[in-house]
Amino acid sequence: MKVMVVGGGGREHAIIKKLRESKKITALYALPGNGGMANDATCVAIGAKDIDGIVAFAKENQIDYAVVAPDDPLVLGCVDALNEIGVPCFGPSKAAAIIEGSKVFSKNLMKKYGIPTASYDVFSDAEKALEFIKSAPIPTVIKADGLALGKGVVIAFTREEAVDAIKSIMEDKKFGDSGNNIVIEEFLTGPEVSVLAFTDGKTVKPMVSSMDHKRALDFDKGLNTGGMGTIAPNPYYTAEIADECMEKIFLPTIDAMNKEGRTFKGCLYFGLMLTPNGPKVIEYNCRFGDPETQVVLPLLESDLFEVMQSVTNETLADQEVKFADKSACCVIMASKGYPEKYENGFEIVIPENIADSVYVAGAKLYDGKLLSAGGRVLGVTAIADTLKGAIDNAYTKVKAIKFDNAFYRSDIGQRALKATEEK
Ligand code: AMP
Ligand code: GLY
Repeated sequence: MKVMVVGGGGREHAIIKKLRESKKITALYALPGNGGMANDATCVAIGAKDIDGIVAFAKENQIDYAVVAPDDPLVLGCVDALNEIGVPCFGPSKAAAIIEGSKVFSKNLMKKYGIPTASYDVFSDAEKALEFIKSAPIPTVIKADGLALGKGVVIAFTREEAVDAIKSIMEDKKFGDSGNNIVIEEFLTGPEVSVLAFTDGKTVKPMVSSMDHKRALDFDKGLNTGGMGTIAPNPYYTAEIADECMEKIFLPTIDAMNKEGRTFKGCLYFGLMLTPNGPKVIEYNCRFGDPETQVVLPLLESDLFEVMQSVTNETLADQEVKFADKSACCVIMASKGYPEKYENGFEIVIPENIADSVYVAGAKLYDGKLLSAGGRVLGVTAIADTLKGAIDNAYTKVKAIKFDNAFYRSDIGQRALKATEEK
């Protein structure tokens, strides 16, 4: 079968590498992909937001199945458009992708159906929000309603910071129309867990849990980024907590989406915080997480393509979804300066013997050489029997890669390791 994957980052590379293990797939395309995945898929220069271009390519090339991975095309209705020309897809419809596309929608959904989350208020008027903040408990959390490249959340530790955030989102339109409405919510504390789950709208099969490291610098210092590294499984996410999440969060969410006439099919990402009052939802994403996917999929033992097809065909209940009883660690190698200004064009040399576990997020091929072309450039993953082994191996691989402008955290997984040792 001819399969195309929409997207071009490390997450898509991890999906593509896993799909390559499926015997059913005869041709694999990435739209647009990037130069670093040219050995694993045919990269086609069509942007992930170019829905017309994607549909035209699928038609011309008689694509049998599409995986739509990033949030933008999902929220823009890429799956609906492909379904219209008869291409089955992995990924939610536009109606269901709103669970990530609008924080106001997701907060109201959780309130309506009693799904645990931070208490909140919604504002469409900056003056009312500024009035509210005068007496709101501090710290407080301010979120732009729409998509904002993962940057639309401000944790304000002072009233001044809260005022600045409201003004920059609602008045200066820092995130454009995504900031027409904002959510102001209760500040929660506790370990964070990412759970990606396959769902066909009837059955939910959670994948192995993981932990992201969002800040740029060691010890969770510095600016928020798209994610500087991940480990799986997350030691805070015990079997007991998993059961509680299934009962109070995962199944009620699927049910709620069905009741709203927005059946969710695809990968639903639950960003959870394990608070002293139990697990609560911090955010939903309508897709695989990046870089969570780079630790979760390498641990998947079942055939990813079969699992994806069972989601599309609504037969997930009968499909095996099995993960290895091992640990994984992914260290992101970014460009110096990320998430702010950085330079591109540095040569990257990945030794042949570790290429299988390197996911390329931002690079291009030029004159036969791989050159950096993005903030996050590589995701380097290792699997081992223990978390410590996975962390050590991931850093050994990182050190074997030649990339002069590289910048990476040296403490990925350390917090998790401490939690394992404390158990
Ligand atoms: P998001 O972009 O929604 O994933 O939020 C980015 C980060 O902000 C999350 O990973 C949390 O660390 C933090 N965050 C979001 N909402 C809250 C909250 N209500 N309380 C505390 N931290 C939060
Ligand atoms: N790693 C967080 C995300 O994919 O949004």
